[in-house]
Amino acid sequence: MKKKCLEAVKAVSDRRLWNRIMEMAEFGATSAGGVNRAAFSSEDIEARKLLISWARELGFMLSTDDIGNIYVRRPGKLYDAPPVLTGSHLDSQPKGGKFDGAYGVLGGFEALEAIERAGLETKFPIEVVAWSNEEGGRFQPGAMGSAVFSGEYPLVEALNTMDRDGERLSDALSETLGATSGLQKRKIPFDITGYLEAHIEQGPILENGNHTIGVVSGVQGLCWYRIEVYGEEAHAGTAPLKNRKDALKTAVHIIAALEEQMADDTDTVRFTVGRFECSPGAPSTVPGKVLFTVDFRHPDRHIFEETVNLIPKICKASAGRCRVDVERLTYTEPIAFDSNIMNLVRDSANALRLSNIDMVSGAGHDAMHIAPLCPSGMIFVPCEKGISHNELENATPTDLADGVRVLVASLTALADT
Ligand code: HGY
Ligand code: MN
Ligand code: MN
Repeated sequence: MKKKCLEAVKAVSDRRLWNRIMEMAEFGATSAGGVNRAAFSSEDIEARKLLISWARELGFMLSTDDIGNIYVRRPGKLYDAPPVLTGSHLDSQPKGGKFDGAYGVLGGFEALEAIERAGLETKFPIEVVAWSNEEGGRFQPGAMGSAVFSGEYPLVEALNTMDRDGERLSDALSETLGATSGLQKRKIPFDITGYLEAHIEQGPILENGNHTIGVVSGVQGLCWYRIEVYGEEAHAGTAPLKNRKDALKTAVHIIAALEEQMADDTDTVRFTVGRFECSPGAPSTVPGKVLFTVDFRHPDRHIFEETVNLIPKICKASAGRCRVDVERLTYTEPIAFDSNIMNLVRDSANALRLSNIDMVSGAGHDAMHIAPLCPSGMIFVPCEKGISHNELENATPTDLADGVRVLVASLTALADT
């Protein structure tokens, strides 16, 4: 590693990074120690404002785009050259943790500050991005900011998305952009030299193997369905069972059939029903409608595609006397990251004497939408007991900072010093 780059690596501060993550976690803090920061909510707006204030303090340039992604830029010697990009997201799951996403943004910011403190001149600009709405808890689909950036998801569709309360995303976004005004407006997509996202692993592999760094080789395929079962409301005390169109019974039947399809001795399949709503939800009325979601993931392209196509067929085949509508909310094929970026991350970790392994990401990330646009990759660090999407999510200040050290070494190599 070049001497100047090593100085930037040494300028990474465990404490500064940790304090920033803790300060950010105050927006949407839950009593159990987690974070509830839905995309474009007042908590998300406060989080964005905090990032913007830190960027202004350090004199970095700020910009945004039509979907509200925020970019923090440190210029390079080639002023207009495509930036090297790093970042993640500031929104959280409804009962999420302090680190999922926020680490990638604030770790990226710590990297930028360390490079600045070391006075390192890079040829290419380096930018930190906070992608909008990665979690998709409020507005579906998730990873929306990066998907709109890449053109994978149309902006107009994103703007017309509604949350459960009927609020349109365009209105929530206008409010967000209004509260964070003064940022230069960028046209997307713009050219990127390379993309590197730091994230907690969200699983137990690194911790179990006593590794500090995961060199991420790709992201498994991810598909969401929204399934609506329509039956007929009836009096629970009078309607004969055989005449009923019970939406709940049918939904249970469908989920059981899907579970059967997902049986897998290798434990590679990931299948989740994460939302389930039954209406009208009264003890003495036969349920007339059920809405539930399916999250299906698999790393093998063939199995992924085949199963994704089977899901609607199984739903219809198990519908009985009810009507079933199946809508695909998101579909991202398994993706492989750039081998040169993987080599760079691995070499950086080895140079810093950090134990590392190659691994596939079980979780979805914004990097999956940027990978088709430019050489891309990810750096994972351990999280306690592999717990994530949970208020108890935790990580150590040292592991988090070590991930940023690898990030600094990799970013400065990509940005050409
Ligand atoms: O669902 C995911 O994989 C991501 O954490 N949002
Ligand atoms: Mn995340
Ligand atoms: Mn997440």
